[in-house]
Amino acid sequence: MTSLKVEVAALKLSNPTILASGVMDETAASLLNMARAGAGAVVTKSIGSEPRKGYPNPTLVELDWGYINAMGLPNPGIEAFAEEMRLARGCPAPVIGSIFASSAKEFSFLASKMQDYGAAAVELNLSCPHAKGYGMELGVDPEMVSAVVREVKSVCSIPVFAKLTPNTHQLMEVAKAAEAAGCDAIVAVNTVKAMAISVEMRRPILSNKGGGLSGPAIKPIGLRCVYDLHSTLNIPIIGVGGVEDWRDAVEYIMAGASAVQVGSAVGRVGLNVFELICTGMKEFMVREGFESVSQMVGVAHE
Ligand SMILES: Cc1cc2nc3c(=O)[nH]c(=O)nc-3n(C[C@H](O)[C@H](O)[C@H](O)COP(=O)(O)O)c2cc1C
Repeated sequence: MTSLKVEVAALKLSNPTILASGVMDETAASLLNMARAGAGAVVTKSIGSEPRKGYPNPTLVELDWGYINAMGLPNPGIEAFAEEMRLARGCPAPVIGSIFASSAKEFSFLASKMQDYGAAAVELNLSCPHAKGYGMELGVDPEMVSAVVREVKSVCSIPVFAKLTPNTHQLMEVAKAAEAAGCDAIVAVNTVKAMAISVEMRRPILSNKGGGLSGPAIKPIGLRCVYDLHSTLNIPIIGVGGVEDWRDAVEYIMAGASAVQVGSAVGRVGLNVFELICTGMKEFMVREGFESVSQMVGVAHE
């Protein structure tokens, strides 16, 4: 019997597609919608200690091959988010709490809150490319990443995932530091630093000027990161960046991902993207004689 079930760092998923952080995931209602649409797990919007408005518009540019966004990490703050997590209890798919912070202590405070709120795992956003003092400003430094993961692991019994940036030549060093500090899985990648300019306005379109590129444009970048990470690490990898159909998902899995996250494609393809990926992947597995997703993980290395 062909099965799409996967286990990632003790999380049991009905299929390997996961809703990526930041897309339709700021409320319990939207998280539940995505789980009902077929996602094997859902990640919340990245949540910080205090409420944040984010940047003024424009915060998103739509391109043929993806989006450039600089939202500025808008979120209601961890205390207010307790209510959304309470309403999301009973979600048919595990809810992974994404958090961002500017220090190891703050990360561990937020992680223990997410654990108290019933998150199945916590995802550390060490990779946002456009928020000063947060994200990739910490996540390109192996020592800092090590300190953050160690601190979070000391207060959390749920699995801890580190979401990393491709905007560095040190990705392997950062990932190895996270693994050595006890991280349970690596999520790769967040968006790629990018910009769009209006020639009529004669200035960058985004209010923040720079942003992060997502969607099909970054799939080859994410794929290469996952392939290299699989050669380097022993912990599971969750692949993210430009997954729109079953073929993209299988490419990531063959590169070494145990599961994939889907972000931009929720907007570009629709809510049924999870179902479409799963149906296509199952048909492919039957055709090719794979009985489980784990049999496909990393086969591109053989
Ligand atoms: C509008 C938007 C908001 C995002 N917000 C977050 C966020 O809050 N935290 C985070 O870790 N990643 C965030 N991301 C990055 C995505 O989770 C994902 O890593 C990236 O978009 C690549 O995947 P994709 O090509 O499937 O969209 C955001 C992406 C988009 C497009």
